[in-house]
Amino acid sequence: MKGVILAGGLGTRLLPMTRVTNKHLLPVYDRPMIYYPVQQLVHAGVMDILIVTGGNNAGDFLRLLGNGRAFGLKHLNYTYQEGEGGIAEALGLAEHFAEGQPVVVILGDNIFQDPIADAVLRFRHQGSGAKILLKEVEDAQRFGVVELDGDRVVRIVEKPKNPPSRYAVTGCYMYDHRVFEIVRTLKPSERGELEITDVNNRFIEWREMTYEILEGWWTDAGTVSSLYRAASLVAESPGEPVLRPSTMEVGRQGEAAS
Ligand code: DAU
Repeated sequence: MKGVILAGGLGTRLLPMTRVTNKHLLPVYDRPMIYYPVQQLVHAGVMDILIVTGGNNAGDFLRLLGNGRAFGLKHLNYTYQEGEGGIAEALGLAEHFAEGQPVVVILGDNIFQDPIADAVLRFRHQGSGAKILLKEVEDAQRFGVVELDGDRVVRIVEKPKNPPSRYAVTGCYMYDHRVFEIVRTLKPSERGELEITDVNNRFIEWREMTYEILEGWWTDAGTVSSLYRAASLVAESPGEPVLRPSTMEVGRQGEAAS
């Protein structure tokens, strides 16, 4: 299993903060935003990680993270997305890195209170297909939202005006190797992007999508208000294993367990 963190895009919803730096390098409480997805993957025992970045300050990721020693990693991989062609386009850049293995993907501006480790383990046992993590939210129209028929996900609608449920699709996705074939078939959406929702809907059509509902809090940090909320939530959750700065040690346990 390989890990991919998507940290491209131009972060225009956070201007002027993002005029001179990349969104994912901005602080969320006591550390840069990009630390959170790295900590999640390391904690889950996913030690082979690719960071997809973009924009003007890509070199700063290397200066900040280097080879990931602060997280107990021996090596970190980087690649660069030109422009802002969408989450699925950024993921497509990971095909070579994935080498036919399954991938766990985290959006660089998503922060989860609870570890994703158990969900990753269950996906390993699932063996093929895909898995998404859902969270019940008040403001579903801001996200990809699932339409459910009983317990079954029928489809996902991206930023619906009238959400078909209160369950948002969070920015953590697990896929088998076919995800890259799907990405190659995608057409840009109305907002000119290759949409991760179109990827997920393909696995749903194939009836190869599983989901889990998160109990702990989850937030993105891509708008002024959600960035503020993210910092407050982290500040109020000092004991959480994946939020502690000392995740290095936890990561080494994860590696031993995988
Ligand atoms: O936060 C979860 C939501 O993320 C999902 O519910 C939506 O289904 C999904 O489309 C996405 O929605 P957003 O419109 O909020 O995504 P955003 O454009 O803010 O991008 C989120 C992250 O994805 C961003 O921090 C970096 C990465 N990204 C995004 C784009 C557009 C890239 O790496 N490259 C890109 O071109």
